[in-house]
Amino acid sequence: MALFKKENEVPMPRHIAIIMDGNGRWAKKRGLPRTAGHAAGAETFRKIANYCRTLGVEYLTVYAFSTENWKRSEEEVSGIMKLLGNYLREALQDMEKNHVRFRFFGDLTRLSPELQQLCLDAQSRSGAFDDVQVNFCLNYGGRDELVKAAKAFALDVASGKRQAEELTEDVLPDYLYSAGVPDPELIIRPSGEMRTSNFLLWQSAYSEYVFMDVLWPDFGPKELDAAIEEYKRRNRRFGGV
Ligand code: FPP
Repeated sequence: MALFKKENEVPMPRHIAIIMDGNGRWAKKRGLPRTAGHAAGAETFRKIANYCRTLGVEYLTVYAFSTENWKRSEEEVSGIMKLLGNYLREALQDMEKNHVRFRFFGDLTRLSPELQQLCLDAQSRSGAFDDVQVNFCLNYGGRDELVKAAKAFALDVASGKRQAEELTEDVLPDYLYSAGVPDPELIIRPSGEMRTSNFLLWQSAYSEYVFMDVLWPDFGPKELDAAIEEYKRRNRRFGGV
């Protein structure tokens, strides 16, 4: 570890969020079914989560399934759910070795009871680990999250637990799925698309977005390094202030 912080050195982002996009196009280019693209994307996620752990990134949030993704074919949806189930079973087995903490952002009630249970187990059994925290956005939508937060606050007002006047920018985040998690400094979207797609609407207010041309299954540590470098360049306030 360096004894002195270099002048103007920008620290690593504590929290990186990723829209894992481009799996379908990756598969199409190879004449494979879309589910093969998601399987390759799940492998990329494993590598990137490990790499974040070695870099000392504290939080990694990934968009695994949006509230809009239910519009996809039954085969594709069940393929993604199966990959998630497999990953969580494996994570539960390797928990003592990997020390990854899990959280789930989204309305889990629409998932199969088995997958819901795996999410609950992964979250409760990993709560004490303090390596990287992985936040899976599952049946997640930023607008849905804000509506649910508004409703939960309204219910607290109705029951007398809160006063309407107490709602501030500091209080609302306590009602989001991400309660207690710092906002991401860096959000990465591979695959060349330049949209935010209902991802972390509240939390991304001051995030740096890095859009990259690579498809998610082809994303690797080199691409993550490049995104972090881009983030650091943007944060170097040449000229001061
Ligand atoms: C977007 O690419 C990707 C998704 C909607 C699903 C992401 C899911 C995974 C990577 C697997 C989840 C499992 C684990 C363990 C993380 P797209 O299908 O929209 O790609 P396209 O725009 O090229 O069609």
